[in-house]
Amino acid sequence: MLLRRHSDKVDVLKKVPLFSGLSRRHLDHIAREADEVKEEADTILVRQGGLGREFLLILEGGARVEKDGQTIARLGPGDFFGEMSLIDGMPRSASVIAESPTVLLVIEARSFQNLLDTVPGLQKKILVTLSARLRAADARLASIN
Ligand code: CMP
Repeated sequence: MLLRRHSDKVDVLKKVPLFSGLSRRHLDHIAREADEVKEEADTILVRQGGLGREFLLILEGGARVEKDGQTIARLGPGDFFGEMSLIDGMPRSASVIAESPTVLLVIEARSFQNLLDTVPGLQKKILVTLSARLRAADARLASIN
């Protein structure tokens, strides 16, 4: 964990679009559930086919999403990943690999479920991102067919 003080963590969370507009009470709640972790470049953050144990959000750095060895998306600060397996219970749909030293917020599956149920607007924001990713995937498919 990089940020030891709870108030520092809350300050970081305030700037994350996924958590924008939340009350101090909800930010406190998220800060208690989230660990901050730093990973080196080339670390496999999530492995395709693996079991989903956590939800992750990039605070600094970047990562690529790889499916069957092909890069399908790039993620940067403010982007999250790992939500799909936690929502549907299926294996990880892709690998996510750090492309530079990367600072992440990591939330365990059970805490993520709890936040989904209690943090206002969180489900909707995640749905909006899922829709955008589906649109981008459809556009990519259409361009190669
Ligand atoms: P999950 O399946 O749990 O683990 C791999 C993650 O990669 C997945 O959740 C999404 O968060 C992310 N992911 C999968 N496909 C895409 C995509 N097309 N664009 C962006 N992110 C993706």
